[in-house]
Amino acid sequence: MRYDRRQFLNEGTKIASALSVAPFVILKNKKPAQLITVAIMGMQNRGNSLAKVFASRDDCEVSWLCDVDTRYMEKTGKELATLQDRKPRLEQDIRRVLEDPTLDALVVAAPDHWHAPAAIMAMQAGKHVYLEKPCSHNPQEGELVVEAAKKYDRIVQMGNQRRSWSNVQACMEELHAGIIGNIYFAKGWYSNTRESIGIGKRTAVPDYLNFDLWQGPAPRRDFQDNIHPYNWHWFWDWGTGEALNNGTHFLDLMRWGMQVDYPDRVVSSGGRYHYQDDWETPDTQTINLTFAENKAMSWESRSCNGMSLYGYSAGAIFHGEGGSCIIGSGNEYKIYDNESQQSLIKEVTAGDALEHDQRNLAGPGAAYDASHVLNFLQGIREGEIQRSAIEGGHKSTLLCQLGNIAYRTGRALDIDPTNGHILNDDEAMKLWSREYEEGWEPKV
Ligand SMILES: NC(=O)c1ccc[n+]([C@@H]2O[C@H](COP(=O)([O-])OP(=O)(O)OC[C@H]3O[C@@H](n4cnc5c(N)ncnc54)[C@H](O)[C@@H]3O)[C@@H](O)[C@H]2O)c1
Repeated sequence: MRYDRRQFLNEGTKIASALSVAPFVILKNKKPAQLITVAIMGMQNRGNSLAKVFASRDDCEVSWLCDVDTRYMEKTGKELATLQDRKPRLEQDIRRVLEDPTLDALVVAAPDHWHAPAAIMAMQAGKHVYLEKPCSHNPQEGELVVEAAKKYDRIVQMGNQRRSWSNVQACMEELHAGIIGNIYFAKGWYSNTRESIGIGKRTAVPDYLNFDLWQGPAPRRDFQDNIHPYNWHWFWDWGTGEALNNGTHFLDLMRWGMQVDYPDRVVSSGGRYHYQDDWETPDTQTINLTFAENKAMSWESRSCNGMSLYGYSAGAIFHGEGGSCIIGSGNEYKIYDNESQQSLIKEVTAGDALEHDQRNLAGPGAAYDASHVLNFLQGIREGEIQRSAIEGGHKSTLLCQLGNIAYRTGRALDIDPTNGHILNDDEAMKLWSREYEEGWEPKV
C-alpha cells in the first residue's frame, strides 16, 4: 500500500494522537481480588519512576522495595505513601525478597550486570519479571534468560516501552504494509551532552550502601566514588555503554521495522574522545550491521555532543525503495516520498500533552511507561501477549552487544544468521560471556 500524497495534503498536515493513559492519580481503592503484588529492585532513577507507575494502579501493589542503598529505598517508600495504602517492606537483599510466597512479580531496575542474574533468580522463585533494558549484560546471559522463561514458564517483559506506544505501533503497521516499499537501510541515533565523570577516588564504602551486594555477580573491586549511582553505565564490569543504554530502544525499533532477526556481519568504531577520565565505554560510537536479503542498519551514539539529527536528539529513520520514515524520540512519525524533494507526505504527532524528553535519565515520562506496564500485568492476569517478550528483547539487545564486541576487539564479526552466534573468532567469543564472582554464576 502506498500513501497518496495529495490525499494527505487534503486531509491536513498533522494527525495528532495521544496515548490513552492518565498521569498519576491517588488511588486508595485497590481491588483485592485482582491485586498483583510487585517488588521493585533498584530505586535511584528508573526504579523510582516505575515504582510510581505500578503503585498508582488500582489492580497492583508494590509490596517490596529493594535497594542496596538505603537512601533511595527510604525516599521512594515515602513517595509511594501518597499512591497506595500499604507501606512496602524495605530490604537490601533481593534473595530475601524473593522468598516471599505472596509476591507475584519482580521489576528489575538495578544496574545492567544484575539484570539477567536477578531475572533468573526471580523465575526460579516462581515470579514473573519486568526486566529493564538491556535484558542482559552479555549475550550468554540473554540466552539464559530466554531459556529460564521457557523452563519456569514465567512472563518476562523487557522494558523497551516504545513497543507499547500507539503511534509507533501504527507506524510499524504502515511500514510492514509497504508505505515506503522494500526497506533496505535503517539508521538509529542518540545524542546528549553528558558531563565528565572525572577520576574516582578509592574511598571507604559509605554507611548507606551494601557494596558487596551492589557488585553481586561481578568480580570484586574496591569501591571508588564516581561509579554509584548511574555512572556505572560507562564501566564494562557493570555497564554496557550508550550502545545498550539507548541503542537497545532504537535498534529494537529498526529490527521491528525491517522485520529481521540476526545479522550476518557487524563492525563498530568509536572511542572515549570527549573527556579524559575513568569512563571506559565509547562516548562516540557507530555500529554497522548487515542482514540477509540485502539489508543494513547503522547506529550512531554521541554521549557528549548533543547535535540532533533530522531535528531529534534520538530516533530511527528507515529508507525504502518508495520513500523514508522517521520515528522521532517520542510517540510520533513522519513519512517522506522518494521524489527529488523528499517531501513530507504524512506526520503523526504525540499530542502536546504528552511531550516527552528522551534525555531525561529516568525515562521519557510516566505516561509513556503506563501502557507497557499494563501489558505486563495483563500478561500475568490473562495471558496477554507481551509486546516486548524476552525472545525478541534478547534479539534486539544482542545487536547492540555484538556491536560492542566488534568495537572491543577492533574486528569485523561474522555472525551465524540463524542464531546470532559469532563465527570463527575465539577472542571475540571471550566477550560472549563474562567472569563472575565465585558462587554468583547464573544457572538455569
Ligand atoms: N526503559 C527506560 O527508558 C530506562 C530509563 C532509565 C534507565 N533504564 C534502565 O534501568 C536500569 C537502572 O538505571 P538507573 O539509571 O536507574 O541507574 P541508577 O544507578 O541511577 O539506579 C540503580 C539503582 O539500583 C540500586 N542497586 C544496585 N545494585 C542493587 C542490588 N543488588 N539490589 C537492589 N538495588 C540495587 C542502586 O543503589 C540504585 O539505586 C538500567 O539498566 C537502565 O538501562 C531504563
